[in-house]
Amino acid sequence: MATANDTAAQQSPWWRDAVIYQVYPRSFADSDGDGVGDLTGVRERLPYLAGLGVDALWFSPWYASPQADAGYDVADYRRIDPAFGTLADAEALIAEAHALGLKIVVDIVPNHVSDRHPWFREALACGPGAEARDLFWFRPGRGPAGELPPNDWQSVFGGPAWTRTTNPDGTPGEWYLHLFAPEQPDLNWNNTKVREEHESVLRFWFDRGADGVRIDSATMPAKDPALPDFDPAAPPLPHPYIDRDDVHGIYRSWRALAEAYSPPRALIGEVWLADPVRFAHYLRPDEMHTAFNFDYLNSPWDPAALRTVIDATLSSHASVGASPTWVLSNHDVTRHVTRYGRADSSFGHALRQHRTPTNLALGTRRARAALLLALALPGGHYIYQGEELGLWEVEDIPDDLRQDPIFHRTGGTDVGRDGCRVPLPWSGDRPPFGFSPDTAQAAPWLPQPAQWASCTAEAQDGRPGSMLTFYRTALALRRGEPGLRALDFRWLPVDDPAVLAFTRADGFVCLANLSPAPAPLPPDTHLLLASDVDFDPATGHLPPDTTVWLRRP
Ligand code: NOJ
Repeated sequence: MATANDTAAQQSPWWRDAVIYQVYPRSFADSDGDGVGDLTGVRERLPYLAGLGVDALWFSPWYASPQADAGYDVADYRRIDPAFGTLADAEALIAEAHALGLKIVVDIVPNHVSDRHPWFREALACGPGAEARDLFWFRPGRGPAGELPPNDWQSVFGGPAWTRTTNPDGTPGEWYLHLFAPEQPDLNWNNTKVREEHESVLRFWFDRGADGVRIDSATMPAKDPALPDFDPAAPPLPHPYIDRDDVHGIYRSWRALAEAYSPPRALIGEVWLADPVRFAHYLRPDEMHTAFNFDYLNSPWDPAALRTVIDATLSSHASVGASPTWVLSNHDVTRHVTRYGRADSSFGHALRQHRTPTNLALGTRRARAALLLALALPGGHYIYQGEELGLWEVEDIPDDLRQDPIFHRTGGTDVGRDGCRVPLPWSGDRPPFGFSPDTAQAAPWLPQPAQWASCTAEAQDGRPGSMLTFYRTALALRRGEPGLRALDFRWLPVDDPAVLAFTRADGFVCLANLSPAPAPLPPDTHLLLASDVDFDPATGHLPPDTTVWLRRP
């Protein structure tokens, strides 16, 4: 007989409390031996992902791309990059994932395209004044001969946000805007063709069964058309290109488009904004469904900071009736096993803390505790591939093998994001650790550390206490735990402010001890799961850096 909870689960859209696993296609599994991951490699491992217990897969871009920014420079949304496979492979992957009960989320990059996109090639070929140029931000330069950029905006990846073009007759021409790499020209969203094309791309993937989209750099597509210099001393709003009010019109149209499908498709925003009120605007009932919680990711492993960000998250989401998300890592940030082992365990793009000492044993212990804490909070949860294997940031990649444009555009002062993108170790005792077949023609596109021999999925499979076993156990428990489905959440009073204790529905209790001292367990509870395998509830105390899930009778 169906219970009230079953019915609630059926009525609640999947994305409200889903666990979504991020697949970074280049680094997941290489089936053809070229050292780069591909869709066949993912298809072969779909049973692994279903067995892990996640609900959905989000794919970083798999489209045709020169890979100047690892696929976030899209040349054609309707084709798969040949390094990854074919459209037929993507369609088969979607069907096979659905058959295993996994939803699919694809990545859409509205702020920019590749400089190899046909629109940009045409705009360059046509020269100044052509209609094709209005799809982008072309402007004459400043200075007597136009030799200076049109304004002082800086690229997120370092250096100026403008690159000068050469006219078809060989003379120096206009400049174009790129808030990221020069190979990623920004689109002009005031042009209706840009809007229509993106809506057509959404339909293309929704018609092929995609259950949702992750929206890249979602605060950036709208620009001040006057393109003024950026005055850091000016009042923070309106910013000339971040979080402008008119960006919301894009997502209102997308929401209407997504809702026209049955079942409705989900919109998930990459919204890096410090202001919780402005953040929540993206989650109003007629905009996106959810957005990544980067405040939580940025937070240090510190009880006061975590308590503050949890409260701020719950209240900002409640203000618009949205479901929160909880994120620890992704393909742009230092892996949290490494972060949590540092004296300063916070993350900030400007403070990547490369080569800062870290204690990986401590970071791993905290990563386990952090998983149980985050999975117990109300809302959705993101897992970045390799988290479940306990992978750490690879910090010793030789400079000449580094690929990230951030490394190259900052002259190496910012080491970039390669360290979290190293291909996954699946099996065996030496690189490529089953990432590529034994017959591979090429080494993995980034080198794997020899120490990953103990981290392979094969080495951890079925091993009590391994990170993989822990993830599988926690995800299975979470899925079966009715108290975790609803949005109920209440802090429990505790004597020590370094202990985070809260309850959800049905007597479920989560206790995370971030204090250096053992914390007393609440009376009359029994243990469901502990992040520390050696934890013995009979002691009545929880060791430091440990989280437990408990139930009250
Ligand atoms: C955010 C993506 O996550 C990142 O990887 C990419 O470089 C930028 N957006 C530009 O698309």
